[in-house]
Amino acid sequence: MAGCQHPGDEEPPKLFAHRGASDQFNESTLTAYKIAADEGVDALEIDLRMTADGELVVMHDETIDRTTNGSGPVDAYTFDELAAYPTVGGGGRIEKIPMLRDLFDTFGETEHYYIETRLINGKAVMERPLIQLLNEYSLIEKKKIIIQSFSEKSLHEVNKLAPGVPLTRLFGRGKGTIMQASLPIYDHIGIESTDATPQRVMMLHYLGKDIHVFFNDPKTEKAEQKRVKKLGVEGYFTNDILYAKKLLH
Ligand code: G3P
Ligand code: CA
Repeated sequence: MAGCQHPGDEEPPKLFAHRGASDQFNESTLTAYKIAADEGVDALEIDLRMTADGELVVMHDETIDRTTNGSGPVDAYTFDELAAYPTVGGGGRIEKIPMLRDLFDTFGETEHYYIETRLINGKAVMERPLIQLLNEYSLIEKKKIIIQSFSEKSLHEVNKLAPGVPLTRLFGRGKGTIMQASLPIYDHIGIESTDATPQRVMMLHYLGKDIHVFFNDPKTEKAEQKRVKKLGVEGYFTNDILYAKKLLH
């Protein structure tokens, strides 16, 4: 918890690789996560979606349009069908959308995982299979997991199924009141860097919450990382691991 920290006398922010080393390779692929792990981060940040056959896959968007050579909603495809639509970018190298399980098979207990859940059609349905999978790999008992979500409903569901797992409540730009942030089940609050003002940081610290900042605009990320450094937050979800390490460590 943040307690009575003041800018300048605290640990540097922890670094969470946002969708892997997403500035260096196709986001949310095994290769992007391997690069991040090799560069050394405190956790791998992971977005989740569910396929038509209930597989948890690593994917940010609701559709596969932006990041693969296919189109349509992720949940319109079974996992096997998705294999026909590899991710694009990365200097032409072809790599498929991974299952969450693939990351656990690759990194096991050597990494921490910062997993974002979301509602599907307004329902908290990915939480139960997620917790089952985490238990299969003993990752909760080994304290390798933080769960984050923009959805209060989802975080309540996680808390019900796996009490004690550290939770982060995310707020989109300009959203989220101090009342909403103050729920005791939240260990951390995630806000966009542009919302990280000295006043908001002070209020959230006063509530005893750690603050993890995300950077949504690659064009301003370096400048924002520099600005936010002075505020004394506890974590960066970064797309630019190398710059963040140079700046903070
Ligand atoms: O999870 C922190 C950050 O990833 C939230 O924004 O849209 O990139 O998932 P988004
Ligand atoms: Ca995310």
